[in-house]
Amino acid sequence: MSLFITFEGVEGSGKTTQIERLKKYLTRKGIACKVTREPGGPPISEKIRKILLDPNHRKLAPLSELLLYEAARVQHIHEVIKPLLKKGTIVLCDRFNDATLAYQGYGRKLDRSLIEKLNRLSSQGIRPDMTFLLDCPSDLGLKRALQRNRTLKNEREARFEKEKIQFHHRVRRGYLAIARKEPRRVKVIDTRAGQEKVFEKIRKIVDELL
Ligand code: TMP
Repeated sequence: MSLFITFEGVEGSGKTTQIERLKKYLTRKGIACKVTREPGGPPISEKIRKILLDPNHRKLAPLSELLLYEAARVQHIHEVIKPLLKKGTIVLCDRFNDATLAYQGYGRKLDRSLIEKLNRLSSQGIRPDMTFLLDCPSDLGLKRALQRNRTLKNEREARFEKEKIQFHHRVRRGYLAIARKEPRRVKVIDTRAGQEKVFEKIRKIVDELL
């Protein structure tokens, strides 16, 4: 059985932790699953990720940024996601199309209908079966993300973590708007409940899907 599950959320929403937990859970059940991320996945898309997240790239124009995210996705789907789904693997993806609409559309204020068109083009017919939107107030998430970077001795903040708080508020609002529009696919989970409770909710929904 192939399933495509994506995880979305503002900075510091705890996606990566939850994805790893879900992977362990599925693996223990003997279910084949793979974790991947956007921007990223295959080497070409990981290279694009480096360009996108380099804090020195202050001159990167919003439209270049948008097209690079889309380009990374085309390659990711072509090389990784499609072949895995074809083999019947469950694919857990850290961010996908919704991130582009939330960050470049709501955050950067680029034309949302253009982004929706580009998203349709780049995702080549692949749509998530389920999306978990790990939600928390943007200032709390940002605080967590900055803390994490410090603990990892990663002094350089990613480009987005340097954005003003208003940008992150808009991104969160964008994500919540997407969830309201597609409530069957996008499940909003309040991460303030703590990691355990968040995972329990995710596990229950995934069990139902299986
Ligand atoms: P990550 O920190 O969750 O790995 O995500 C990398 C950054 O890229 C994060 O700040 C969100 C941003 N992003 C976009 O702006 N647009 C997109 O389409 C994607 C996939 C990520």
